[in-house]
Amino acid sequence: MEQIAPPVLVVGWAPDGALRILDQRRLPGEVMMRDLRTVEEIADAIRTLAVRGAPAIGVAAAIGLAVAAGGAEPEEVERAAATLRATRPTAVNLMWALDRMLVVARATASRAAPARRDALREEAERIRAQDAAMCLAIGEHGAALVESGMRVLTHCNAGALATAGIGTALAPLYVAHARGAKLQVFADETRPLLQGARLTAWELAQAGIPVTVLTDGMAASLMARGGIDLVIVGADRIAANGDVANKIGTYALAVLAKYHGVPFVVAAPMSTVDPHTADGSAIVIEQRDPAEVTHLNGVRVAAAGAMVYNPAFDVTPHTLVTRIVTDRGIVAPPYVFAPNSALLPPPA
Ligand code: MRU
Repeated sequence: MEQIAPPVLVVGWAPDGALRILDQRRLPGEVMMRDLRTVEEIADAIRTLAVRGAPAIGVAAAIGLAVAAGGAEPEEVERAAATLRATRPTAVNLMWALDRMLVVARATASRAAPARRDALREEAERIRAQDAAMCLAIGEHGAALVESGMRVLTHCNAGALATAGIGTALAPLYVAHARGAKLQVFADETRPLLQGARLTAWELAQAGIPVTVLTDGMAASLMARGGIDLVIVGADRIAANGDVANKIGTYALAVLAKYHGVPFVVAAPMSTVDPHTADGSAIVIEQRDPAEVTHLNGVRVAAAGAMVYNPAFDVTPHTLVTRIVTDRGIVAPPYVFAPNSALLPPPA
């Protein structure tokens, strides 16, 4: 497999054993690392999107739990996990990673503190390494859907900055690019927090893949002109029937893609699949601070007195999803994710 690496460490370990994250609130202006040690610091980083993207927050929570509560008494580990779990409700990778950590914490509860800490650190590192491996596997499988010359539209950031590896939606593009495919990527700006303009455009530019930023409302006219061959996005949670929660605006793109006959592909690791949620109606959608909509960089842009609608995610019905690319392969409709499918071991 070609050597494809993330442009920068996004989530991992500091040399002294702390949780190290890239502070994504500073991008694209500044590449700034932060080392975090307490549950409060880590929860705040997840809540404020210093670290973000479903897989990355799962990895951050796992490492964070090991760092902040590694050798602590079992009750304190449970409390710390509950605090981290409550930071963001939609991305199921967060719950998936913390559940794995708690299985280890409970199994080692009777051991001495250093052994309990080591066990949590080892599990967190396994979660990090597996996420990187799942990204590569998604890239390998998904590259089969990408042809040289394609104009590909994506939304939000489901790239390296959202994972511990090369991303999910962008992974097939990185693999195809490494094999010589000539691609043109269109990145929706992604209001209100601009993950597309700030993050996707940054990492694609770093990788030398031509990228064009457009505001979210411009995608329709681009598709109407025949300017898009493929839409590929990530996911925060995929229900058992294939309904997909992802960044607000994804559903609109899926409707547009259907109308214009453009394939709409979702790429996500099995840690994003929630087979215990029957369909999208049961997915809790995070509601965020109105100031994210009324203000830009601290400057008010919406009229005072207006109310605000600010869900962070929407649900795309499975009927609009052409294919789901996972680390285990490409899944075609009808989508049926069995209750134990997310628990199978990830690729070696
Ligand atoms: O609010 P964010 O920036 O965490 O939202 C991120 C997304 O919606 C991504 O598309 C999703 O988490 C998949 S990341 C591989």
